Amino acid sequence: MNREPHSTNAGLMARRHAAVPRGVGQAHQIFIARGSNAELWDVEGKRYIDFAGGIAVLNTGHCHPQVIAAVKAQLDLYTHTCFQVIAYEPYVELAERLNALAPGRFPKKTVLLSTGAEAIENAVKIARAHTGRAGIISFTGGYHGRTLLTLGLTGKIAPYKAGFGPFPGEVFHALFPNPLHGVSVADALASVETILKNDIEAKRVAAFILEPVQGEGGFYVAPPDFVEGLKKIADRHDILIIADEVQSGAGRTGTWFACEQWSVAPDLIATAKSLAGGFPISGVVGRADVMDAPAPGGLGGTYAGSPVGCAAALAVLQVFEDERLLARSKAVGARLTAGLRRIAEAHPAIGDVRGLGAMVAMELFEGGDVTRPDAELTHRVVAEAARRGLVLLSCGNHANVIRILVPLTASDAVLDEGLRILSDSFESVR
Ligand SMILES: Cc1ncc(COP(=O)(O)O)c(C=O)c1O
Repeated sequence: MNREPHSTNAGLMARRHAAVPRGVGQAHQIFIARGSNAELWDVEGKRYIDFAGGIAVLNTGHCHPQVIAAVKAQLDLYTHTCFQVIAYEPYVELAERLNALAPGRFPKKTVLLSTGAEAIENAVKIARAHTGRAGIISFTGGYHGRTLLTLGLTGKIAPYKAGFGPFPGEVFHALFPNPLHGVSVADALASVETILKNDIEAKRVAAFILEPVQGEGGFYVAPPDFVEGLKKIADRHDILIIADEVQSGAGRTGTWFACEQWSVAPDLIATAKSLAGGFPISGVVGRADVMDAPAPGGLGGTYAGSPVGCAAALAVLQVFEDERLLARSKAVGARLTAGLRRIAEAHPAIGDVRGLGAMVAMELFEGGDVTRPDAELTHRVVAEAARRGLVLLSCGNHANVIRILVPLTASDAVLDEGLRILSDSFESVR
């Protein structure tokens, strides 16, 4: 291994830029040396509080001891067979656990995969196989991944889709409700009806796909009456509902799946990210009759449902029970929301504080005017916070939202320290 004993962030970043294409973005000019729970240390020894969690992957924190122990134990037994060749129990156990956790009073089955985009691809395949229909309706501002189908579903051009088309056909985008920006629930539902009238017959639509809380799009929560209205349209035309819980799932919002807070049970749920606390695994959980539509051999993948990922995910589920992390998620959300509201009182640029459970964000506008998103201020606050030792991420269609995805295992002291740094960063850049 070629690791310099006294590497600097700048030195490694120069190597990174020479060796890695610029298309792989870089939120922070930092190289990690080690991480523990909600803190990390860079190669120069500087400590950071991590409010980004590797983009929603670390709900149980960096290197949770139980997760690491489970992975080490698995490494001593076997690391790979390909589940379709030689099966292993942790895959089956994880499927059973996810089936039991998913909402809906119907039998369920789960297929395990590796990445979020792969889960979405498979959810669409399963929906098409079950319905015999091709059409998929997704929503503006939604983000579903970087493969060509999931980019097609994604409702934002720059930077994700620009230059990568054409995308698979039979994908249509309806409006996601966003009252803050002038799209009411009625507007959003009407836009679905318009697509069914103008673009594709309802009987050729397999599924609606939506995030219960839009992640990359800006942490906008799908309003309950929107979900109920969508379900009515879905039922009228036998269209399935796919919940993309890649970012909102695994306990982030106070329930294991955010859609547990809907009055409607989705037919299929895509899950990934924090499911395995830092190890790559994903899955599609859904109605058994729908999940069984693809013929044998139609689903899977070489690394899909890796035993190491399964062992990590089972440990994550145990940690959620042992440390009561669903209740903690609500408490973390309440503490963060109160903290952000306090900062907002002193800074009129913060025009909105919102979220569900611990999936919390603030949106910035010039002078608080919601027609003037302030990406520049957002960028400066995020950069200043990093300088002061707090890792944050922005998001949103206008890059003017600061989102928080801190580990749910973070102590109140660390949460408060992070909020203080955020507040000081606002003071210093204003
Ligand atoms: C809601 C949502 N869906 C899908 C994806 C894609 O997941 P992955 O990057 O693991 O492919 C993401 C990633 O951020 C996401 O937030």
